[in-house]
Amino acid sequence: MASALHNGGLVAGNERGVAVDPERVPPGIDPTKAHPSRRYNYWLGGKDNFAVDRESAETVASAFPTVYLSARENRAFLQRVVGYLAGEAGIRQFLDIGAGLPSAGNVHEVAQAIEPASRVVYVDNDPVVLVHARALLTSEPRGRTAYIEADLREPGRILENPGLAGTLDLSRPTALMLVATMHFITDDHDPYGVVSRLLSALPPGSFLVMTHATGDHLTPEGYAESVEANERSGVPFRLRSREEFTRFFDGLEILPPGVTSVVEWRPEDPPDKRPAIEDVSMLCGVARVP
Ligand SMILES: C[S@@+](CC[C@H](N)C(=O)[O-])C[C@H]1O[C@@H](n2cnc3c(N)ncnc32)[C@H](O)[C@@H]1O
Repeated sequence: MASALHNGGLVAGNERGVAVDPERVPPGIDPTKAHPSRRYNYWLGGKDNFAVDRESAETVASAFPTVYLSARENRAFLQRVVGYLAGEAGIRQFLDIGAGLPSAGNVHEVAQAIEPASRVVYVDNDPVVLVHARALLTSEPRGRTAYIEADLREPGRILENPGLAGTLDLSRPTALMLVATMHFITDDHDPYGVVSRLLSALPPGSFLVMTHATGDHLTPEGYAESVEANERSGVPFRLRSREEFTRFFDGLEILPPGVTSVVEWRPEDPPDKRPAIEDVSMLCGVARVP
């Protein structure tokens, strides 16, 4: 194997008695091509990544050095929002698309700590994510989790997947989670159409949760540098402005505090302990389907 996958997560799986070979590259994986899931894992300090992912991650960081902070703040937002939805909003079903590699505070763990019967369907197009998720993301007995390998650019295939209907009752309110995922959907793949197709399958009282990288705080030179670094990193990527991001929520009721930085959405830390929104450059919105 040209580049062995580091085995941090898989070792944890084995400790729980799950039979996973940490040196095996799962079928369908090209270890010479960077993938957003493994790159994000690297920024978060994880070990489930190949050399090509680390190289791609560092290329992006050369233009936007605080990307590590951005990844951590995005992840912290994910945990806060699931806590809010499972707690105050009473949501019991989550469709998490672009789920990423298992990390601290996965969606079902946060939701099931509040309501053990919560159900979560994880979707990702990286087979490595699916191998790790199946090994590590075990549900509370009263709830349920499922994992679907599918591409967000084909929302119909996600909605038709039997794993979805077998786990979630889509006649009941569901949170559609697109956290740090839509910026991988470039304009040629109809990003707004993708989101509205998914939302069309959800009943009133459902939620859309989205975070998205923005270039709004960059200087024109910094913006150009970031776009160039992303192109060089081998992962198609589209920064979007606040206005472009807000369009995803057309027709929905955006919850307070509105479209904002992930840092400022129901923060737990006092203002002087929070990072600068420019350094994070990640927008978020949480909205209810009327
Ligand atoms: C930056 S990670 C975010 C993980 C997690 N949602 C979080 O916020 O902590 C983005 C995830 O989106 C997935 N992804 C990117 N493009 C995708 C696509 N077209 N279809 C499905 N998943 C995709 C990647 O594999 C990766 O796991």
